[in-house]
Amino acid sequence: MQEKFSQILLNAKQDVEKIDNSKDLYDLKTRYLGKNGEITALLRGMKDVAPEQRSAFGKMINDLKVEVEKTFDDKDQMLKQNELNQRLQNEAVDVTLPGNAPAMGSIHPLNIVKNKIINAFCGMGFEVFEGPEIDSDYYCFQALNIPKDHPARDMQDTFYITENFLLRPHTSPGQVRTMENKKPPIKILSPGRVYRADDDASHSPMFHQIEGLVVDKGVSLCDLKGLLDEFVRIIFDKDTKTRFRPSYFPFTEPSVEVDVSCCKCHGKGCNLCKGTGWIEILGAGVVNKKVLEMSGIDSNEYSGLAFGLGIERITMIKYGISNIKTLFESNINFLNQFNRR
Ligand code: PHE
Repeated sequence: MQEKFSQILLNAKQDVEKIDNSKDLYDLKTRYLGKNGEITALLRGMKDVAPEQRSAFGKMINDLKVEVEKTFDDKDQMLKQNELNQRLQNEAVDVTLPGNAPAMGSIHPLNIVKNKIINAFCGMGFEVFEGPEIDSDYYCFQALNIPKDHPARDMQDTFYITENFLLRPHTSPGQVRTMENKKPPIKILSPGRVYRADDDASHSPMFHQIEGLVVDKGVSLCDLKGLLDEFVRIIFDKDTKTRFRPSYFPFTEPSVEVDVSCCKCHGKGCNLCKGTGWIEILGAGVVNKKVLEMSGIDSNEYSGLAFGLGIERITMIKYGISNIKTLFESNINFLNQFNRR
């Protein structure tokens, strides 16, 4: 009998040896230890054994059962470990591989420059006010001392929508709208799109301006100079110089055009400044008393200064861009150059 048991154990060990997956091992285990298994059958045969041998026989079967179970358990452990190792190998991730960086957008150069300008003036106490892009003849012209049929209207090639409404040709209506709604002291910037029937390498029918307006007691051309000197040093560099040239705008008196020393040649003369050493950046002046009065501000008590600059122009000078159209073409290669600047 002992021999038979040893044979069963040996067979079980050999059978287990050949198994290479958990499922087959489970099936094999059922064949030995399941309800109808070989060892279960032996246990059932106990009843036919003579009573005096029963205990010894029982112990032998039990020992056999324990041994066979251990064989299966050991194999089961081994298979599970192998399967785990296999999975770890198959599903391994090389954390040292470089990741796939998602394409990052960037801020448009016009917005970069617009934000810089706004930041520069906000640091000097200015607030931002945005006016409408379609505005009336009154706000675009009449309230700025440009009466109907006045030749000064030819200074801008205007897009009219109706006889009385137009795409604003400048952000100066923002001056009037602010003065009508706010008591001095006033210190505002009015950025936004403007429209003119004008189209070449440095002009576009749609472009962006920022208007500045200061109204307070005792404001003078001298304050304008100080303000713009500081602005130019922030936007270009600290050595940039400004120059005022006499000019004419119906809504300022006196009026000036402001040049900066060329940021490319530092005043020596180059293709950017057309050999003059200076580049024009904006129009400005002391607010015409008539404009203050029309907007309900007492011109005996208060005075004002105003300036209007083109964001495209400053961007082109700052980054050396020769054609304004590149700013509107959505060319990714062009725009990517401004990443992280
Ligand atoms: N509105 C003028 C223009 O578009 C610029 C300007 C603004 C000039 C304010 C003087 C004062 O050309």
